Amino acid sequence: MGRQRDKGPAYLKRPDRRGRFGVYGGRYVPETLIPALERLTADFVAAWRDRRFRDEYSHLLREYAGRPTPLTHAPRLSQRLRRGQIFLKREDLTHTGSHKINNVLGQILLAVRQRKRRVTAETGAGQHGVATATVAARFGLTCDVYMGALDMKRQAPNVERMQLLGARVIPVEAGAGTLKDAASEAIRDWVTNVNDTYYVLGSVVGPHPYPYMVREFQRVIGREARGQFRRLLGRSPDTLVACVGGGSNAIGFFTDFFSDARVRMIGVEAGGCGLRSGRHAATLSAGTVGVLHGSMGYLLQDDDGQVITPHSISAGLDYPGVGPEHSFLRDTGRVEYLAVTDQEALAAFSLLAECEGILPALESAHAIAALYQLPRDPSGKRVIGVCLSGRGDKDLGTVMAALGAARLGK
Ligand SMILES: Cc1ncc(COP(=O)(O)O)c(C=O)c1O
Repeated sequence: MGRQRDKGPAYLKRPDRRGRFGVYGGRYVPETLIPALERLTADFVAAWRDRRFRDEYSHLLREYAGRPTPLTHAPRLSQRLRRGQIFLKREDLTHTGSHKINNVLGQILLAVRQRKRRVTAETGAGQHGVATATVAARFGLTCDVYMGALDMKRQAPNVERMQLLGARVIPVEAGAGTLKDAASEAIRDWVTNVNDTYYVLGSVVGPHPYPYMVREFQRVIGREARGQFRRLLGRSPDTLVACVGGGSNAIGFFTDFFSDARVRMIGVEAGGCGLRSGRHAATLSAGTVGVLHGSMGYLLQDDDGQVITPHSISAGLDYPGVGPEHSFLRDTGRVEYLAVTDQEALAAFSLLAECEGILPALESAHAIAALYQLPRDPSGKRVIGVCLSGRGDKDLGTVMAALGAARLGK
């Protein structure tokens, strides 16, 4: 395909001034949102340069979210898989149980700086909604979260969490009742209430500056991991693996390693019932270029440009689009993308639980499952970092139903 290998810090020069990663990204939004996006860009850039904002953000990450998260060696998993020494970056151990808190703390600090009193969000797995409801409570803001009706059923514990935190969870019945439909409703709300509402977007998707801003807030994952690998092993890992829904935990994990040309990076999409079945959410593996939720990127769509309803057992990966930076990274070849099925993710869920005593989120279980696709490493010297993006409590209902009580009770 004539992909050029563009390594290192050149990646960090992106997006360009128009919010583009190569041809991807940009702002495909109604006219009424442009001033709000311009203001958000200017306010983010100013805040990110402001020492007091950065100090407050770091303070909250440390004292409220519980960072830095550990980098845990997984000896029994490594032995079972024989793909190398596996280290888990433990985003599951943050307050609220996933990487989503990093981004939400940053954005709600910005909302407070903009003197907004109300925040809205979309959520799929509910982890972004829980993080938003949590930080909104911490700052005394009104919080409305849009969630697909199907996702409300399969992530019921998170719906209750959000409600207990004082948020209103608004069910979205439209479409498939999943993340894409929730995001469409949240954007509709924002268009109507743009003057007094801050829209807390949950991944590296949407119009500029969201993909850039969310990347910067999530870079803490990779920055910490890089230091931890250096201290532990004196070097960077050989391979990094992370799941990709919109792509925020992956981009946060990868970015500070881009300048290390030796580090292989793998993003793992939801292969659902298999790529040939048409029931999956593997946007980069099987999509084509189009526009969704305000930005251009790879997308699951039919020949008429209609979005194909995606499927994944994991509500956080069940999205037909992907962040524009991932679209760019795919074309350049700097990051490789592959897909694992629902069944493979379920097996990886059990494997991690039984080998290491850790219940991963089903999203993170996709990253573990992808390790089988790496070549074997008889020397056992290859070092692999996996972003464990969240914990599995929210998925217990889904996992129990899928695995069957009989098998679990044996
Ligand atoms: C635990 C967890 N991991 C991963 C994701 C996928 O999001 P992203 O690709 O933005 O990291 C989600 C989304 O809800 C999630 O809850």
